[in-house]
Amino acid sequence: MKTINNKHRILILGASGFIGQALYKELCGYFNTYGTYCVDNKAFSKNQHYFQYNMEEDDIFEILEIVKPTIIISAVRGNFSAQVIAHHHIAEYVVANNSKFIFLSSANVFDAYSKFPSYEDDKTLSHSMYGHFKIKIENMLLRLPKRNYAIIRLPMVFGAQSPRIQEIKFFLKEKSPIEVFPNLIMNVTTDTKVTQQIHYIINQKKSGIFHLGSTDLVHHDDFFKEIIASLGVINPVFKQVFTSNDDRYLAVLSKTNTLPKNLELLSHDILTELEV
Ligand SMILES: NC(=O)c1ccc[n+]([C@@H]2O[C@H](COP(=O)([O-])OP(=O)(O)OC[C@H]3O[C@@H](n4cnc5c(N)ncnc54)[C@H](OP(=O)(O)O)[C@@H]3O)[C@@H](O)[C@H]2O)c1
Repeated sequence: MKTINNKHRILILGASGFIGQALYKELCGYFNTYGTYCVDNKAFSKNQHYFQYNMEEDDIFEILEIVKPTIIISAVRGNFSAQVIAHHHIAEYVVANNSKFIFLSSANVFDAYSKFPSYEDDKTLSHSMYGHFKIKIENMLLRLPKRNYAIIRLPMVFGAQSPRIQEIKFFLKEKSPIEVFPNLIMNVTTDTKVTQQIHYIINQKKSGIFHLGSTDLVHHDDFFKEIIASLGVINPVFKQVFTSNDDRYLAVLSKTNTLPKNLELLSHDILTELEV
Protein backbone atom coordinates (compact mmCIF):
# COMPACT_ATOMS: atom_id res chain seq x y z
CA MET A 1 0.00 0.00 0.00
CA LYS A 2 1.27 3.50 -0.86
CA THR A 3 1.77 5.92 2.04
CA ILE A 4 1.74 9.67 1.45
CA ASN A 5 5.11 11.26 2.21
CA ASN A 6 4.15 14.35 4.19
CA LYS A 7 7.61 15.80 3.81
CA HIS A 8 6.70 17.39 0.50
CA ARG A 9 3.90 19.58 -0.74
CA ILE A 10 4.16 19.71 -4.52
CA LEU A 11 2.54 22.36 -6.74
CA ILE A 12 2.44 21.65 -10.48
CA LEU A 13 1.78 24.68 -12.71
CA GLY A 14 -0.01 23.43 -15.83
CA ALA A 15 -1.33 20.25 -14.18
CA SER A 16 -4.12 20.06 -16.78
CA GLY A 17 -1.67 19.82 -19.69
CA PHE A 18 -0.16 16.73 -21.29
CA ILE A 19 3.00 16.46 -19.12
CA GLY A 20 1.58 18.27 -16.07
CA GLN A 21 -1.32 15.85 -15.83
CA ALA A 22 0.98 12.83 -16.18
CA LEU A 23 3.18 14.28 -13.39
CA TYR A 24 0.17 14.83 -11.14
CA LYS A 25 -0.90 11.17 -11.62
CA GLU A 26 2.63 9.92 -10.95
CA LEU A 27 3.17 11.99 -7.78
CA CYS A 28 -0.25 12.34 -6.11
CA GLY A 29 -0.15 8.85 -4.60
CA TYR A 30 3.14 9.60 -2.81
CA PHE A 31 3.12 13.32 -1.96
CA ASN A 32 0.62 16.05 -1.10
CA THR A 33 0.24 17.19 -4.69
CA TYR A 34 -1.61 20.23 -6.03
CA GLY A 35 -1.97 21.59 -9.54
CA THR A 36 -3.21 24.49 -11.63
CA TYR A 37 -5.41 24.60 -14.71
CA CYS A 38 -6.29 27.62 -16.81
CA VAL A 39 -9.31 26.98 -19.04
CA ASP A 40 -12.66 26.36 -17.26
CA ASN A 41 -13.03 22.64 -16.56
CA LYS A 42 -15.75 20.98 -14.46
CA ALA A 43 -13.65 18.00 -13.38
CA PHE A 44 -10.74 20.15 -12.18
CA SER A 45 -13.03 22.69 -10.46
CA LYS A 46 -14.47 19.84 -8.33
CA ASN A 47 -10.99 18.64 -7.31
CA GLN A 48 -9.87 20.53 -4.20
CA HIS A 49 -6.25 19.95 -5.14
CA TYR A 50 -6.64 21.91 -8.41
CA PHE A 51 -6.59 25.73 -8.56
CA GLN A 52 -7.72 27.77 -11.54
CA TYR A 53 -4.85 30.06 -12.52
CA ASN A 54 -4.35 32.33 -15.51
CA MET A 55 -0.85 33.77 -15.41
CA GLU A 56 -1.98 36.77 -17.49
CA GLU A 57 -4.50 37.80 -14.82
CA ASP A 58 -3.66 36.13 -11.51
CA ASP A 59 -0.76 36.46 -9.10
CA ILE A 60 0.91 33.12 -8.38
CA PHE A 61 1.71 34.36 -4.83
CA GLU A 62 -1.92 33.74 -3.80
CA ILE A 63 -1.67 30.04 -4.65
CA LEU A 64 1.81 29.77 -3.13
CA GLU A 65 0.43 31.26 0.13
CA ILE A 66 -2.36 28.68 0.27
CA VAL A 67 -0.39 25.58 -0.78
CA LYS A 68 2.98 26.48 0.78
CA PRO A 69 4.75 24.07 -1.57
CA THR A 70 8.19 22.65 -0.84
CA ILE A 71 8.51 21.77 -4.54
CA ILE A 72 7.10 23.71 -7.51
CA ILE A 73 7.09 22.12 -10.95
CA SER A 74 6.57 24.40 -13.93
CA ALA A 75 4.85 22.58 -16.83
CA VAL A 76 3.00 25.57 -18.28
CA ARG A 77 2.80 27.12 -21.70
CA GLY A 78 1.42 30.56 -22.51
CA ASN A 79 2.34 34.19 -23.01
CA PHE A 80 6.13 34.54 -22.63
CA SER A 81 6.15 37.86 -20.70
CA ALA A 82 3.53 36.61 -18.26
CA GLN A 83 5.57 33.42 -17.78
CA VAL A 84 8.74 35.43 -17.05
CA ILE A 85 6.93 37.41 -14.31
CA ALA A 86 5.35 34.27 -12.78
CA HIS A 87 8.66 32.38 -12.80
CA HIS A 88 10.39 35.37 -11.24
CA HIS A 89 7.86 35.35 -8.38
CA ILE A 90 8.35 31.62 -7.90
CA ALA A 91 12.15 32.05 -7.82
CA GLU A 92 11.73 34.63 -5.01
CA TYR A 93 9.44 32.26 -3.09
CA VAL A 94 11.86 29.35 -3.55
CA VAL A 95 14.79 31.29 -2.07
CA ALA A 96 12.74 32.75 0.80
CA ASN A 97 11.36 29.31 1.74
CA ASN A 98 14.35 27.14 0.80
CA SER A 99 12.15 25.05 -1.49
CA LYS A 100 12.82 23.62 -4.94
CA PHE A 101 11.89 24.79 -8.42
CA ILE A 102 11.70 22.14 -11.15
CA PHE A 103 11.45 23.79 -14.56
CA LEU A 104 10.53 21.92 -17.76
CA SER A 105 12.82 23.35 -20.41
CA SER A 106 13.48 22.18 -23.93
CA ALA A 107 16.13 20.96 -26.36
CA ASN A 108 15.36 24.21 -28.19
CA VAL A 109 17.72 26.09 -25.87
CA PHE A 110 20.38 24.66 -28.22
CA ASP A 111 18.57 25.16 -31.53
CA ALA A 112 21.26 27.54 -32.85
CA TYR A 113 23.79 24.67 -32.75
CA SER A 114 23.02 22.22 -35.51
CA LYS A 115 26.24 20.25 -35.92
CA PHE A 116 26.22 18.17 -32.70
CA PRO A 117 23.96 16.87 -29.95
CA SER A 118 24.14 18.93 -26.73
CA TYR A 119 25.16 18.00 -23.16
CA GLU A 120 24.26 19.44 -19.74
CA ASP A 121 27.19 21.87 -19.42
CA ASP A 122 27.16 23.14 -23.03
CA LYS A 123 26.45 26.83 -23.51
CA THR A 124 22.87 27.50 -24.59
CA LEU A 125 22.14 29.42 -27.81
CA SER A 126 18.89 29.70 -29.71
CA HIS A 127 17.58 31.28 -32.89
CA SER A 128 13.92 30.76 -31.99
CA MET A 129 11.55 32.83 -29.80
CA TYR A 130 10.68 29.70 -27.82
CA GLY A 131 14.34 28.77 -27.27
CA HIS A 132 15.22 32.36 -26.26
CA PHE A 133 12.41 32.40 -23.74
CA LYS A 134 13.43 29.06 -22.21
CA ILE A 135 17.04 30.32 -21.91
CA LYS A 136 15.80 33.45 -20.10
CA ILE A 137 13.99 31.38 -17.45
CA GLU A 138 16.89 28.91 -17.20
CA ASN A 139 19.30 31.80 -16.53
CA MET A 140 16.97 33.07 -13.81
CA LEU A 141 17.15 29.65 -12.11
CA LEU A 142 20.91 29.29 -12.61
CA ARG A 143 21.40 32.36 -10.38
CA LEU A 144 19.73 30.52 -7.46
CA PRO A 145 21.65 28.20 -5.10
CA LYS A 146 21.99 24.86 -6.92
CA ARG A 147 20.02 22.93 -4.29
CA ASN A 148 16.97 25.11 -5.10
CA TYR A 149 16.51 24.19 -8.76
CA ALA A 150 16.34 21.40 -11.32
CA ILE A 151 16.27 22.35 -15.00
CA ILE A 152 14.79 19.50 -17.04
CA ARG A 153 15.63 19.78 -20.75
CA LEU A 154 13.26 17.67 -22.83
CA PRO A 155 13.29 16.60 -26.47
CA MET A 156 9.95 15.79 -28.21
CA VAL A 157 7.73 13.96 -25.71
CA PHE A 158 5.43 11.22 -27.01
CA GLY A 159 2.69 9.21 -25.31
CA ALA A 160 -0.66 7.65 -26.17
CA GLN A 161 -2.41 10.88 -25.06
CA SER A 162 0.23 13.27 -26.40
CA PRO A 163 -0.95 16.05 -28.72
CA ARG A 164 1.60 14.80 -31.30
CA ILE A 165 0.13 11.29 -31.46
CA GLN A 166 -3.43 12.68 -31.46
CA GLU A 167 -2.46 14.96 -34.37
CA ILE A 168 -0.91 12.07 -36.31
CA LYS A 169 -4.10 10.02 -35.79
CA PHE A 170 -6.23 12.98 -36.94
CA PHE A 171 -4.18 13.45 -40.15
CA LEU A 172 -4.34 9.71 -40.86
CA LYS A 173 -8.13 9.77 -40.46
CA GLU A 174 -8.42 12.81 -42.74
CA LYS A 175 -5.95 11.19 -45.18
CA SER A 176 -3.90 14.41 -44.96
CA PRO A 177 -0.12 14.36 -45.44
CA ILE A 178 2.01 14.14 -42.29
CA GLU A 179 5.00 16.49 -42.22
CA VAL A 180 8.39 14.85 -41.64
CA PHE A 181 11.85 16.47 -41.47
CA PRO A 182 14.37 14.08 -43.07
CA ASN A 183 17.38 16.26 -42.09
CA LEU A 184 16.50 16.46 -38.43
CA ILE A 185 18.37 14.15 -36.04
CA MET A 186 16.89 14.15 -32.55
CA ASN A 187 16.32 12.17 -29.42
CA VAL A 188 12.86 11.51 -28.01
CA THR A 189 11.04 10.45 -24.85
CA THR A 190 7.65 9.57 -23.33
CA ASP A 191 5.51 11.14 -20.60
CA THR A 192 5.71 7.90 -18.59
CA LYS A 193 9.52 7.90 -18.54
CA VAL A 194 9.83 11.65 -17.83
CA THR A 195 7.44 11.42 -14.86
CA GLN A 196 9.35 8.43 -13.38
CA GLN A 197 12.63 10.31 -13.83
CA ILE A 198 11.27 13.45 -12.12
CA HIS A 199 9.88 11.28 -9.28
CA TYR A 200 13.41 9.89 -8.83
CA ILE A 201 14.96 13.41 -8.90
CA ILE A 202 12.52 14.44 -6.12
CA ASN A 203 13.13 11.31 -3.99
CA GLN A 204 16.90 11.52 -4.30
CA LYS A 205 16.97 15.33 -3.75
CA LYS A 206 18.89 15.77 -7.01
CA SER A 207 19.48 19.24 -8.42
CA GLY A 208 21.12 20.99 -11.38
CA ILE A 209 20.60 20.45 -15.11
CA PHE A 210 19.14 17.19 -16.47
CA HIS A 211 18.90 16.02 -20.09
CA LEU A 212 16.01 13.57 -20.11
CA GLY A 213 15.88 12.04 -23.57
CA SER A 214 16.50 8.65 -25.17
CA THR A 215 20.16 7.61 -25.15
CA ASP A 216 20.03 6.97 -28.92
CA LEU A 217 19.36 9.36 -31.80
CA VAL A 218 16.78 9.02 -34.57
CA HIS A 219 16.01 10.72 -37.86
CA HIS A 220 12.68 12.56 -37.55
CA ASP A 221 11.22 10.96 -40.71
CA ASP A 222 12.29 7.40 -39.81
CA PHE A 223 10.87 7.74 -36.30
CA PHE A 224 7.53 9.11 -37.49
CA LYS A 225 7.27 6.31 -40.07
CA GLU A 226 7.94 3.73 -37.35
CA ILE A 227 5.36 5.33 -35.05
CA ILE A 228 2.75 5.14 -37.79
CA ALA A 229 3.66 1.53 -38.53
CA SER A 230 3.33 0.75 -34.79
CA LEU A 231 -0.18 2.23 -34.93
CA GLY A 232 -0.97 -0.45 -37.51
CA VAL A 233 -1.44 1.98 -40.43
CA ILE A 234 -0.34 1.09 -43.95
CA ASN A 235 0.31 3.49 -46.87
CA PRO A 236 0.26 6.83 -45.00
CA VAL A 237 0.96 10.04 -46.96
CA PHE A 238 4.02 12.09 -45.98
CA LYS A 239 5.16 15.59 -46.83
CA GLN A 240 8.94 15.85 -46.62
CA VAL A 241 10.14 19.23 -45.32
CA PHE A 242 13.78 20.21 -45.87
CA THR A 243 14.86 23.17 -43.70
CA SER A 244 18.56 22.91 -44.64
CA ASN A 245 20.82 20.98 -47.01
CA ASP A 246 22.75 19.33 -44.16
CA ASP A 247 21.70 17.14 -41.27
CA ARG A 248 20.67 19.21 -38.24
CA TYR A 249 20.79 17.99 -34.62
CA LEU A 250 18.22 18.82 -31.95
CA ALA A 251 19.19 16.38 -29.24
CA VAL A 252 19.89 16.58 -25.50
CA LEU A 253 22.21 13.83 -24.29
CA SER A 254 23.43 13.25 -20.75
CA LYS A 255 27.08 13.10 -19.66
CA THR A 256 27.49 14.63 -16.17
CA ASN A 257 24.09 14.40 -14.46
CA THR A 258 23.07 10.87 -15.44
CA LEU A 259 20.24 8.84 -13.93
CA PRO A 260 20.36 5.10 -13.10
CA LYS A 261 20.27 2.67 -16.05
CA ASN A 262 16.73 1.47 -15.25
CA LEU A 263 15.49 5.04 -15.82
CA GLU A 264 17.13 5.38 -19.23
CA LEU A 265 15.22 4.72 -22.44
CA LEU A 266 15.82 3.90 -26.08
CA SER A 267 13.68 5.35 -28.86
CA HIS A 268 12.46 1.83 -29.63
CA ASP A 269 10.85 1.60 -26.15
CA ILE A 270 8.50 4.39 -27.21
CA LEU A 271 7.28 2.39 -30.19
CA THR A 272 6.63 -0.62 -27.96
CA GLU A 273 4.61 1.61 -25.59
CA LEU A 274 2.51 3.01 -28.43
CA GLU A 275 1.91 -0.29 -30.23
CA VAL A 276 -1.74 -1.16 -30.84
N1 LIG B 1 5.33 18.25 -25.02
C1 LIG B 1 6.59 18.26 -25.44
O1 LIG B 1 6.99 17.54 -26.38
C2 LIG B 1 7.59 19.18 -24.75
C3 LIG B 1 8.94 19.16 -25.18
C4 LIG B 1 9.86 19.99 -24.55
C5 LIG B 1 9.46 20.82 -23.51
N2 LIG B 1 8.14 20.84 -23.13
C6 LIG B 1 7.74 21.76 -22.05
O2 LIG B 1 6.96 21.08 -21.08
C7 LIG B 1 5.96 21.94 -20.55
C8 LIG B 1 4.58 21.25 -20.66
O3 LIG B 1 4.31 21.00 -22.04
P1 LIG B 1 2.97 20.25 -22.50
O4 LIG B 1 3.24 19.72 -23.86
O5 LIG B 1 2.50 19.34 -21.42
O6 LIG B 1 1.98 21.52 -22.62
P2 LIG B 1 0.37 21.55 -22.74
O7 LIG B 1 -0.20 20.18 -22.85
O8 LIG B 1 0.05 22.54 -23.80
O9 LIG B 1 -0.07 22.15 -21.31
C9 LIG B 1 0.14 23.51 -21.02
C10 LIG B 1 -0.39 23.83 -19.63
O10 LIG B 1 -0.27 25.26 -19.45
C11 LIG B 1 -1.53 25.78 -19.03
N3 LIG B 1 -1.69 27.16 -19.49
C12 LIG B 1 -1.83 27.60 -20.78
N4 LIG B 1 -1.99 28.95 -20.79
C13 LIG B 1 -1.95 29.35 -19.50
C14 LIG B 1 -2.09 30.62 -18.86
N5 LIG B 1 -2.27 31.76 -19.55
N6 LIG B 1 -2.02 30.67 -17.50
C15 LIG B 1 -1.83 29.55 -16.77
N7 LIG B 1 -1.70 28.31 -17.31
C16 LIG B 1 -1.76 28.22 -18.67
C17 LIG B 1 -2.55 24.85 -19.65
O11 LIG B 1 -3.80 24.98 -18.98
P3 LIG B 1 -5.19 24.52 -19.73
O12 LIG B 1 -5.07 23.03 -19.91
O13 LIG B 1 -6.26 24.88 -18.79
O14 LIG B 1 -5.21 25.26 -21.02
C18 LIG B 1 -1.88 23.50 -19.43
O15 LIG B 1 -2.08 23.07 -18.11
C19 LIG B 1 6.06 23.26 -21.32
O16 LIG B 1 6.79 24.18 -20.55
C20 LIG B 1 6.85 22.89 -22.57
O17 LIG B 1 7.61 23.96 -23.06
C21 LIG B 1 7.21 20.04 -23.71
